Amino acid sequence: MADPVVRITTSSHFSSAHRLHNDARDPAWNRDVFGKCNNPHAHGHTYELEVTVEGPVDPATGWILDFGDLKRIVAEKVVKKCDLRNLNSDVLFLRGVNPTAENIAVRIWDELAEGVAPARLVRVVLHETERNKVVYTGPEPRGARGDRETPAIRSCAP
Ligand code: NI
Repeated sequence: MADPVVRITTSSHFSSAHRLHNDARDPAWNRDVFGKCNNPHAHGHTYELEVTVEGPVDPATGWILDFGDLKRIVAEKVVKKCDLRNLNSDVLFLRGVNPTAENIAVRIWDELAEGVAPARLVRVVLHETERNKVVYTGPEPRGARGDRETPAIRSCAP
């Protein structure tokens, strides 16, 4: 019988500043669309990040991946690069994107996907506030991917 496949999730958090702005549009469009999220001097969130990987349970260890290793990978590849930084200007892997929660989650996926091998990355959940989060399950069609789990109205208020 094949080893059972199990998913494990680790949670982390980081505090960052950002400003929502589309450089391709004019200031009036940005103010209109992003509202106070477009304030020139940015604002901050404490982001909660859940990373889920899956793989077969190793019969020798009884785990698919050491939780400590997964946490360290997320810390090295994401948390240390984002914590107490400005996501518009300070984070290499976010260069060139408007740092919405959606775009951040997609770039986090790209940062982590290879590093969790031999486990497989299956889900990145980024909570921007206690009530608003985005879910990204990768570039391949795999059911309910990229779901926004809150109404489309965005608020920067906690
Ligand atoms: Ni915001």
